[in-house]
Amino acid sequence: MKTEIKEDKYEELMELAKRRGFFWQSFEIYGGVSGFYDLGPLGTLMKRNIIDLWLKYFVLRHMDLATIVETPVINPAKVFEASGHLESFTDPIVRCDKCGGIFRADKLIEEKLKIRAEGKKPEELTQIIKGNNLRCPSCGGPLGEVRTFNLLFKTTIGPYEGNTGYLRPETAQGMFISFKRVHTVMRNRLPLGIAQIGRVARNEISPRQGMIRLREFTIAEMEFFFDPEKPGQPPFERISGGIKSKLNILRAEDRLKGVEKPSQYTIEEAIEEGIVVSPWMAYWMAVSRDFVKELGLSEEETFFEEKLPEERAHYATQTFDQLVKVSRWGWVEVSGHAYRGDYDLSRHQKYSGQDLTVFRRYEKPIKKKLKKVRINKAIIGRELGSDAVKVISALRAMSPEEVEKLLETPEEFIEIEGHRIPKDAVKVVVQEEVVHGEKVIPHVVEPSFGVERLVFVALDKAYTKEGDRVVLRLPPKIAPIKVAVFPLVTNDEEIVRIAREIYERFLEAGIAALYDTSGAIGRRYYRADEIGVPYAITVDHKSKEDHTVTIRYRDTREQVRIPIGDVIPWITEKVR
Ligand code: GLY
Repeated sequence: MKTEIKEDKYEELMELAKRRGFFWQSFEIYGGVSGFYDLGPLGTLMKRNIIDLWLKYFVLRHMDLATIVETPVINPAKVFEASGHLESFTDPIVRCDKCGGIFRADKLIEEKLKIRAEGKKPEELTQIIKGNNLRCPSCGGPLGEVRTFNLLFKTTIGPYEGNTGYLRPETAQGMFISFKRVHTVMRNRLPLGIAQIGRVARNEISPRQGMIRLREFTIAEMEFFFDPEKPGQPPFERISGGIKSKLNILRAEDRLKGVEKPSQYTIEEAIEEGIVVSPWMAYWMAVSRDFVKELGLSEEETFFEEKLPEERAHYATQTFDQLVKVSRWGWVEVSGHAYRGDYDLSRHQKYSGQDLTVFRRYEKPIKKKLKKVRINKAIIGRELGSDAVKVISALRAMSPEEVEKLLETPEEFIEIEGHRIPKDAVKVVVQEEVVHGEKVIPHVVEPSFGVERLVFVALDKAYTKEGDRVVLRLPPKIAPIKVAVFPLVTNDEEIVRIAREIYERFLEAGIAALYDTSGAIGRRYYRADEIGVPYAITVDHKSKEDHTVTIRYRDTREQVRIPIGDVIPWITEKVR
């Protein structure tokens, strides 16, 4: 019965999304702006359901390991100086000398020359463009030099011009900055996952992929902090199939050999063979596999692609993208899994001057010869007055080895934070001490999801047709409306009263329901199928006599008859 949907599936889905209220391009009345989408009534409910599911998989099922926070969208510049985004969160662009059109240089090269260009330096891209005489794709004019464009949206915090702020491009920095506070609140627990679901913004150059590439969207991500020497054992029994279950992985080294198909590895193999550098990363990849399955995708329809060094973000030493196949755009990334190591905490420690380490307690105290930094505050105070505090805290944040290095200078002074202080204000001494533990900077693995993409992917997967009839086979857990209630006829007061009462009971139970009296019953089923309502309840003449109703399941059109009193628990069990 199912008919194949060919290349027009995407257009059909976009039309449905707009007409029935899942999503549409924002600022419609002003002509729309690329990269911005509104979620309509159904899209908003569906997104909330996906977020709830994510929360369940990543936080609620891991309350012994993970927690959640909410931090600001607007951050002071210092945050992104420290995180490296001001320097590295860039894309290469090239401008046409004739029409002024601006294009993403690496994508243009990849599209026109079919060679890999991501991660190449601007000079290299310029050479490729000139060497191959690439011209402007709009007007055929000559292209200029490639330069980098920073994707951070810039603003001003308060009425002070110099007080620059940026909209966050990821929620992650909120977790790094609040790490010490959350770690203390969680009674120094490690490993510790800190999750966040929130809006982010990226000033993409020319987004043309609908809901797939947005300039503002919601991220659901977790920074999972652990001691690299004592990482602990992930609870593999919580994932479907445990440690022997399989992950579909396409390794970077295989990609370089031209392999396009992923291979299957058990999680155990992926860890033991070093395919995934951390057991925690493999664990969260498996959780992600299970989570994405709940959106209606089978395991075969998703795989993890290891990124090449030049494709990775500046903070990562290993990254896998979880890809799923969608109509029109092919394989798209729904989540990224990055090994961020100690990069972010180390950088914030350096830029803030605050101690962001955790204490690793030894099983037994040991005696150790330790290097210590001795700071003569009196000398620094005398030399620097009110600037002394800043310099002293910067010195305190430095390791003895860093201070020793500074003291190697032939000068009589050392420079800290732009201030000169006499060398004899700082000393590194060695002393024997009983040591109970040591300070370490935790390492981090990060699973990170783009939520609007998940909405799109789930809709794309669910969209099927039976002849001309659209059936949106959304899994009941994420369907925006769980149940439809129909009185078979509207001219029978008793039938209408019973139907209305059932509907009211769904509302009272907090289950998203719709009530529809308009047109023939077939049309009403059609309208409900089209927006993915999994169950439809019809009150008919028999209902008046034996207090039963029919429940029809969207995907099979099978109907069962059950007592009215059982309807609410029956549906609740199916949709939660
Ligand atoms: N935090 C993940 C990302 O920025 O993509």
